[in-house]
Parts: sequence; C-alpha cells; structure tokens
Amino acid sequence: MPRVLLIECSPNEDASPGGQLAREMAERIHANAQITVRNLVREPLLPLCGDYARAVTGRAHREDPALALSEQLIGEVESAHYLVISTPMHNYMVPAALKLWLDYVVRIQRSFTMVDGNKEGLLEDRPTFVVVSSGGNYLGAKASQADFLSPYLRHILGVIGLHHVEFVHLQGLAQGPEVVAETLQQARARLANNPYFAAAPFPGVPA
Ligand SMILES: Cc1cc2nc3c(=O)[nH]c(=O)nc-3n(C[C@H](O)[C@H](O)[C@H](O)COP(=O)(O)O)c2cc1C
Repeated sequence: MPRVLLIECSPNEDASPGGQLAREMAERIHANAQITVRNLVREPLLPLCGDYARAVTGRAHREDPALALSEQLIGEVESAHYLVISTPMHNYMVPAALKLWLDYVVRIQRSFTMVDGNKEGLLEDRPTFVVVSSGGNYLGAKASQADFLSPYLRHILGVIGLHHVEFVHLQGLAQGPEVVAETLQQARARLANNPYFAAAPFPGVPA
C-alpha cells in the first residue's frame, strides 16, 4: 500500500487553503494510500538543545538519545513513498516550524554526507509535492516581493536526496475569499492533469 507523509505547518490549521489542497492531493495519489500526518503546529517540535547540537556536530551514533526525535522524523520520510508539504510563506521564507523540522531531518552522516567537499543526499528520492500559500505575489506579472522559500526548499530537499520536487503556488491569498476560491480552483484544474493525482477527481473539476 502506498504511503504518503503529509507535512503541515500553517498556524491557520484546517482553515489553510494550502492545507486543504495538500490533503486533497495526498488523498488522490492513490485510492488506498495510507496517509501519515505530521502537523508541526498542533504538535510542535522541541527547540534544538545543546545535546542535539553536540550529537550532530560530534557525529554521535544514531542510537544516542539526543538524536531520537531526529531519527523518528527521518524515519517518517524514509517510510513514505510520497511527501506532500503544505507551507505558508512567512517573511519570504518557510515558517519557523518547518525550518525546525528541517534542522532535525537534514543531518550529516544520516540524511546527507560529504563527497569531495560537496553535500550528497543519503535518502532515496521520492516524488515530493510542496504547496506554498502566500498573501502576496512573487511569481508572474503581479510579482512584488522576493521568494526565498521555494529556492531554499528545493535546495535543502536536494541536499538530502529529494530531487523530484514539484511546487504548487497559491499566491495573492490576502486579496480575499473570492481570490482564494479562484486560486484554489485553478490549482485543482492544473493538478487534475498531473498523472500523480489520477485516483479521484478534484472537487469542482470534471473528471
Ligand atoms: C508571520 C507571517 C509572515 C508572513 N509573511 C508573508 C510574506 O513574506 N509574504 C507573503 O506573501 N505573505 C506573507 N504572510 C501571509 C501568509 O503567507 C498568507 O496569509 C497565507 O495565505 C497563509 O497561508 P496558510 O493559511 O496556509 O497559513 C505572512 C503571514 C504571517 C502570519
């Protein structure tokens, strides 16, 4: 049975349009997919502590108790065939909750290693979908701000070996509910043509 890891980090929780779309995507990857949700707001991760920092830089054995949470989060990625990440843009970047998750998952000699001075991923590649929600625009004719989020996420996921990464951009959501509804519907219509999401039609999109 295909397994999907759904990573959520919006403070708006169920009211997040990106969160809603990401759930729809996870449900459509396969009719019988087993979906594991890692909600980084409902269940906040502990801030990094000295023991963790020392275990990482000191290359402690993976059974070191200080690495237990890191091991658990990496294990969740490893056991998933697909990743779906829903993230708001916060100050042009990923929210702090998602950055903290990355600080546990991107770990030297565990999820990446050094080869000739370059970082090389140790995790097996798997299709990874990222839904980005933003109040303003950073792509297209209406772009009016920087985007450090998507290039950063593409880069850091590549560091650990996740290269098949597809982005869905829900922009301009601060313009009100009509724009939110229209943007969501346009995204659903585009995703309906993506063979990964063929298990069921998206709401409001003809099969
Ligand atoms: C702390 C904070 C920082 C934000 N920074 C940005 C930003 O840099 N650019 C932007 O377009 N929107 C920004 N927003 C707006 C959110 O990206 C927008 O409300 C988005 O729709 C939230 O998505 P969500 O409902 O999935 O959390 C920010 C919102 C918050 C709460």
